[in-house]
Amino acid sequence: MTETIITLKKADLTLGNAAASVHVLKGIDLEIRRGEAVGIVGPSGSGKSTLLMVLAGLERLDSGEIIIRDTPLHALGEDALADFRGRNIGIVFQSFHLIANMTALENVAVPLELANVKNAFDIARAELTSVGLGERLSHYPGQLSGGEQQRVAIARALAPSPAVLIADEPTGNLDTETGRQIADLLFAKQAERGMTLLLVTHDNALAARCTRQIRVRSGEIAADSVRSAAAAAAFA
Ligand SMILES: Nc1ncnc2c1ncn2[C@@H]1O[C@H](COP(=O)(O)OP(=O)(O)OP(=O)(O)O)[C@@H](O)[C@H]1O
Ligand SMILES: [Mg+2]
Repeated sequence: MTETIITLKKADLTLGNAAASVHVLKGIDLEIRRGEAVGIVGPSGSGKSTLLMVLAGLERLDSGEIIIRDTPLHALGEDALADFRGRNIGIVFQSFHLIANMTALENVAVPLELANVKNAFDIARAELTSVGLGERLSHYPGQLSGGEQQRVAIARALAPSPAVLIADEPTGNLDTETGRQIADLLFAKQAERGMTLLLVTHDNALAARCTRQIRVRSGEIAADSVRSAAAAAAFA
């Protein structure tokens, strides 16, 4: 049995203020094993992004527990949480979130430098080359296509060698073919590095490529199904 890498226990969260509060996560229990590729689907507003933000340590629970690699994130202070996040979790967003006045190389290297990683620029150069951007190191985000910008974001997420890679609709802003190439890249990197991948998507074909599918509905897990690796590969 593969080891558990992420555990959520009775995870509960209400967002907003008194006038407009939403009970977004309603006591979610969840266990994710190391190396799984989990596709998270569900209607708009069901809580998928919020669930990812909790799993990424970017949003705190009101009550319940979140444990990643034996570390209880709910019990960490802000600095320890940021440090844990930086070393263990990579995040990719739909809208890339690159810094416009930094080159591709700087976008990947500067966060490493801020985390006191040695050889930050060497690691960034290698990571960008590994996602196919070795010839685009000095380009600014505005000089790159959407697919290339998402590759920079993926290189940035991968650079600290995280155990967990989290992606919120990573192909949502891309055309079908570019989206497919980005999905191929994510799955290739996951397999190569044995990472755990958590992916929110509205694309059922993309979710079907994951080894496990979780359906969120109205802040609860409505369905959770594990697919064999062979069956998942058949959808690739
Ligand atoms: N800061 C906030 N304050 C109040 N309500 C919020 C806040 N953030 C999210 N919500 C509400 O929580 C619910 C879940 O939002 P979330 O972004 O997690 O949904 P989602 O499943 O990712 O939707 P989509 O598929 O459209 O991205 C929504 O009803 C949203 O309006
Ligand atoms: Mg969302």
